[in-house]
Amino acid sequence: MKIEFSETELTIFEKIGQAAGTLGTPCYLIGGFVRDRIIGRPTKDADIVCLGDGIELAHAVADLFQPKPSVAYFKTFGTAQLKLPGLEIEFVGARKESYRQHSRKPEVSPGTITDDQNRRDFTINALAVSLNKTDFGVLLDPFNGLADIAAKRIQTPLAPEQTFDDDPLRMMRAIRFAAQLGFTIEPATFRAISEHASRIHIVSQERISDELNKIMLCARPSVGWDLLFRSGLLQVIFPQLADLYGAEYVDGKGHKDNFYHTLQVLDNIASKTDDLWLRWAALLHDIGKPATKKFEEGHGWTFHGHEVVGARMVPKIFTRLKLPLNEKMKLVQKLVLLHLRPISLTKDNITDSAIRRLLFDAGEDIDSLMMLCNADITSKNAAKVKRYLQNFELVRQRLEAVEEKDRIRNWQPPITGEMIMQKFGLSPSKPVGIIKDAIREAILDGVIPNEFEAAYRFMLEKAVELNLQAVE
Ligand code: CTP
Repeated sequence: MKIEFSETELTIFEKIGQAAGTLGTPCYLIGGFVRDRIIGRPTKDADIVCLGDGIELAHAVADLFQPKPSVAYFKTFGTAQLKLPGLEIEFVGARKESYRQHSRKPEVSPGTITDDQNRRDFTINALAVSLNKTDFGVLLDPFNGLADIAAKRIQTPLAPEQTFDDDPLRMMRAIRFAAQLGFTIEPATFRAISEHASRIHIVSQERISDELNKIMLCARPSVGWDLLFRSGLLQVIFPQLADLYGAEYVDGKGHKDNFYHTLQVLDNIASKTDDLWLRWAALLHDIGKPATKKFEEGHGWTFHGHEVVGARMVPKIFTRLKLPLNEKMKLVQKLVLLHLRPISLTKDNITDSAIRRLLFDAGEDIDSLMMLCNADITSKNAAKVKRYLQNFELVRQRLEAVEEKDRIRNWQPPITGEMIMQKFGLSPSKPVGIIKDAIREAILDGVIPNEFEAAYRFMLEKAVELNLQAVE
């Protein structure tokens, strides 16, 4: 089998082969680039393994380009990076690992290309292509990676226990590749993941979360999360999510399985948006359910306040998963908190005031919130789904109408705290807050219009109630 390269790639790879020939260090294209080329996925990163010094080869390759690209290198790891237009290339020397008796620590030493292929995570990632003059373009496939690509199968080149022991993150990579490529994990490999799941704790949270985000960005992220759950990895890395699993029964009454409901909501939103954070909001929207679950006589299962509890859990989860604690986290938190609001508006109580409050609370994220609420409809009861959708349509129309009339989105009340303090000679204090809140509430309730004059008059009235004297 020959791998097809583009014109530009062919020129680059031929130059790499030429530089390697001059240095006498045979080299090979290896790993993800080869895999993705065979599958037909776009790739911008290429890994080169050489039988010699990777840094030296990178410099020799750079010398063959005009203008000469700069080489970033890391002496301790023996790796070097070259950025060329459209392609980022990493160079490293082939390595072999051997285990000494009485020691679990491997000794890493220079090795052959086969030694290097042995150390890789999966057969589909161990494929190499020669860039050397004598056999340029020939595929080296000692573990039948090609057959595994055709069968859409993920398995380790060596015994899975050994491969996962070398780097437990590979357990997550197996699941991430399964979700990304639509492959299945070969049973013995999956069994080894289940047996070694607890070893994931030795891996840094940043590397784990990188994989979680890659799973999140898949077309159907549920595939990855389900595999994480079924292998037992989820219980170690994110127990709060695993707690959503299962349905409890009392007096023959059960509730829905909130884990699989959540995964469906996640896939629903993923079919509408690539936004990573809206996907996280979908994953976390019901995270407060296990903590608020109650069986109430004559009523059934309830999860009162799960949106408030869930919103409070968001920063803790982001901290634990080392996700950014910035405005993205705030967005997720806000959507979790508000996710019941549109659905709680039924035909009879969609007042202008309720709509205004929703617009005020959601602000510029109102469309994202509506998208989450739509994704949250997973009922199998067609009549119920129809009712919810009709209701949302009604809420949407009303949102548009009220927005047009009041422009509440991103709205700041027309009277600021500054103005109140100046008017009545106050320093920052309780009465300032009381007046400000009263003006905002009056506008949201439709008692006064959203205008400066009306708000000013209202402020004066409120001040009389509070015995405040104007000073100007
Ligand atoms: N690799 C490995 N074990 C790891 C990480 C990487 O054996 N824990 C090897 C694999 O052969 C992999 C190559 O290093 O193909 C490059 O790693 P990386 O760039 O992380 O992965 P890719 O396979 O290129 O895929 P992606 O870019 O989607 O992560």
